[in-house]
Amino acid sequence: MTETGPVTVLPVSFVGGAHGPWRVTASTAVVGEGLAGAERLAVHEGPGPDGAGAVWTLRGVVSHARYVTAAESRALAARSPALGRDGATRAALIPVRKSPRWWALAQDERREILEERSRHVTLGMRSLPAVARRLHHGRDLGEPFDFLTWFEYAPADAAGFEDLVSALRATPEWDYVDREVDVRLER
Ligand code: HEM
Repeated sequence: MTETGPVTVLPVSFVGGAHGPWRVTASTAVVGEGLAGAERLAVHEGPGPDGAGAVWTLRGVVSHARYVTAAESRALAARSPALGRDGATRAALIPVRKSPRWWALAQDERREILEERSRHVTLGMRSLPAVARRLHHGRDLGEPFDFLTWFEYAPADAAGFEDLVSALRATPEWDYVDREVDVRLER
């Protein structure tokens, strides 16, 4: 995976309901409103399902990177594992919305908060290659969440992942998060 991202966007739908390879083990409202209870999760790449029979459907697109420098992009690409590894039987779907205050900032101000003040990329890199991840953008689709973040890891790496999530939530970047749900899964 390269951080500069694909030339065309890939639509992805996360469907919570009775079907799919992932079993929901926990669903927590971290900031704001949570999501209705669902037993299983299916991830659809490409033109999405119509949502019939689903408890909820969240949509996003895999798009280009907004904030990383070329050096960060190369470092991430060199250390980022692919999704779907055999041993990565745990996953987290963490939908995030940021506040109007965040979106009113200029690009350079957002970058400064994300990395220079919060070290998001630096902290995240420490979890590579244990954690595979993919970021999906929903804001321009009019979706309830600006971002659908997806992570896959082995049970042995679960504690390290929790440390990362806690560290990120304590950063200045998270002052701008006004809705966040944390859905944990196993397969
Ligand atoms: C596993 C290690 C992680 C790495 C290497 C990582 C890396 C990154 C990078 C490089 C970006 C910026 C992409 C761009 O330039 O547009 C990003 C964005 C983002 N990440 Fe992470 N991240 C990690 C973990 C997490 C976790 C655990 C969460 C949630 C708790 C998270 C939430 C987000 C969100 C919401 C964005 C979008 C921010 C925005 O565009 O305003 N990340 N991540």
